[in-house]
Amino acid sequence: MIPFKYGVCVTGTDFCGRKNELELLKQYLSSSMRVYIVGERRTGKSSLIMETARIMPDYRFIYVDLRSIVTRGQLCERIANGLNKQEKTKHSFSRLLKAIANLRPEVSVDSITGDIKLSVSPQIQVSDVDIDKLLEIAGEQRTVVVMDEFQDIQRIKGYETILGSIRSVIQKQSDTSYIFCGSLLHRMNDLFSDRKSAFYNSAERMMLKNIDAIEFSAFLSKRFKLGGRQPKAETVQSIIDFCRGNPGDIQRLCIGIWAGTLSGDSIDERAVLKGIAHICSLESDSFREKLDSLSRNQILCLGALLKGKEPFVLSNLFARNSGLGSYSVAKSAITGLQEKDILLKRGRVWLMSNPFFFYWLHLSNLN
Ligand SMILES: Nc1ncnc2c1ncn2[C@@H]1O[C@H](COP(=O)(O)OP(=O)(O)O)[C@@H](O)[C@H]1O
Ligand SMILES: [Mg+2]
Repeated sequence: MIPFKYGVCVTGTDFCGRKNELELLKQYLSSSMRVYIVGERRTGKSSLIMETARIMPDYRFIYVDLRSIVTRGQLCERIANGLNKQEKTKHSFSRLLKAIANLRPEVSVDSITGDIKLSVSPQIQVSDVDIDKLLEIAGEQRTVVVMDEFQDIQRIKGYETILGSIRSVIQKQSDTSYIFCGSLLHRMNDLFSDRKSAFYNSAERMMLKNIDAIEFSAFLSKRFKLGGRQPKAETVQSIIDFCRGNPGDIQRLCIGIWAGTLSGDSIDERAVLKGIAHICSLESDSFREKLDSLSRNQILCLGALLKGKEPFVLSNLFARNSGLGSYSVAKSAITGLQEKDILLKRGRVWLMSNPFFFYWLHLSNLN
């Protein structure tokens, strides 16, 4: 069995480190606080929440994933299904159906998971009050409502009124905790730090950084050894460095390396390069598609990035060197790349969000 996990939430023995974060989150939740967790994609936000839920078995965790929602109806569906997953009794199911009876929800069975699913037809008019009714059901003692990828609420037309209405429901639920989680820092900041937002200053901020490198390195080495591989300490460090410490990318690369080695093999630089090449070849179609979707200015910007030093600071010099001319044109190209999740900002500097895409671009003839 492959000892690395990627693309799923990790908990229990698969969960490495983060003792302080777990303890802090546990304290916040046992005090019925509202928390917003921000961190780059694949840093481990959802895993941290799942692991917290595991170590707080007396609490009811209602998990709502807002990824890619665009309508109020979808928001209702996601909350209703989050609630339904948690409450397995007949009574709670009929209470849930009653709360949204006017939306005429359809009940079906998921053919893969066997779970009961509620759906709302796109033709049905859904109001902010319908969303409130669901949150009112959620609000109980020893309950944590998790809204993951919360920034995507901004995709819903007129989301500002939804926020206002959610805020007023939540304010009355003094025994219920809420976690709002998001990967797009600038969007989460718009929601929680902008005075004009209904959620301004409404939650305690928790910034999730990468896992401590020494702890993660020991965890990865142990896993390689479990399968008879011989990892060199400096090679494990170079895996972490290549992925700039991102836990998801690191585990993904380890799977790639695993696929190209056998029991007894040494995990050295050659094995790492083979692992990277393996992932790039798996992803080449989607990378090509991503590249094809870019504007001319965005491609010029990436070209400059590949030639120069990465991470980089947006400056007049960068604008000139990239052939984009002015600072404002370069800024708009960079913002577009950020929206497409190709670039991300750490402090003042910009960098590529996916190290495999960056490597693949180096190999293709962009510059
Ligand atoms: N504490 C952890 N220990 C080991 N691997 C982790 C940990 N947290 C995250 N990962 C790795 O990162 C991947 C993405 O984690 P996830 O929790 O989905 O991140 P996020 O919600 O921030 O996008 C996981 O599939 C796993 O490979
Ligand atoms: Mg997540």
